Amino acid sequence: MTCVVFCFSGTGNTWWCAHRLASSLDARGVQTRVESIERTGADAAADLARSADLVGLGWPVYGSDLPEPMKRFIDATLPPANGQGLFTFCTQLLFSGNGARVYERELAARGWTIGWSAHLRMPNNISVAVSPLSWSADPRVHERRLEKTARRIDRFAEAVVGGQHFSQGHGPLPAALGAMQRRPFRRWFPRLRNDISVDTERCTRCGRCVRICPSGNLAMTPDGVVAGGACVLCVRCYNYCPVQAVRYMGRPHRPERGLPYRGPVPDFRPEELAAE
Ligand SMILES: Cc1cc2nc3c(=O)[nH]c(=O)nc-3n(C[C@H](O)[C@H](O)[C@H](O)COP(=O)(O)O)c2cc1C
Repeated sequence: MTCVVFCFSGTGNTWWCAHRLASSLDARGVQTRVESIERTGADAAADLARSADLVGLGWPVYGSDLPEPMKRFIDATLPPANGQGLFTFCTQLLFSGNGARVYERELAARGWTIGWSAHLRMPNNISVAVSPLSWSADPRVHERRLEKTARRIDRFAEAVVGGQHFSQGHGPLPAALGAMQRRPFRRWFPRLRNDISVDTERCTRCGRCVRICPSGNLAMTPDGVVAGGACVLCVRCYNYCPVQAVRYMGRPHRPERGLPYRGPVPDFRPEELAAE
């Protein structure tokens, strides 16, 4: 049996979960590969989806919604279902209602039925100065969270392979709770999304933010890095700028709050997700 997991990950959490799930499925006899949707060309992705017995889709939730790149992938790249099984998972800090099932109707319109769905709790990746939430960039701090999530991932893999029930986010109550977060988030998204700027004094013009941005929102110009109108709010540029020159809502990173979140493992590099 073969499986392909397509994932979008802003800052590494979903990437980590996708790889952990792949190992867990491999250990149960399902040959699994993970593809970052930013890297896999549309034709190659469609071929992989067609030839696999099982397809997985993973994303981080943003206000109980799925990120724009994943919406586009499902709408434009994922081929219509051809008898394959499908599972979805989302990663989240706390809660998403029906985060892993939010695109259920759109998937159904293309013939896909979600067989299994999981909500996986991961560390907070929102480090922007305007957020009151705390976070840590020290992976040792996250050890217990990751262990718990790894155990959940194993149970999820067990259910997928064994054909057992595992459908988080299914039913009217999770759908209603998800909608309560999603509606205001969708309304505010146009205002929230395009507020990235770069402090030209602090910026060293290394170009990392431009290279790793998943939506081509950032460009290097003779005047420094400028943002266009395509931000997807993944916070990757903010978190991974080596000198914290990226600002959100005009507010610089506050050094007294520590480094921004840099992913669940020390060796994680966002370049692994981004298009080459
Ligand atoms: C814009 C934005 C909105 C978010 N909204 C939620 C949310 O509604 N519920 C939640 O539990 N976590 C939320 N989070 C936290 C992330 O979903 C979580 O940290 C996720 O694991 C990040 O995954 P990634 O590293 O793959 O991008 C949000 C993060 C961002 C950047």
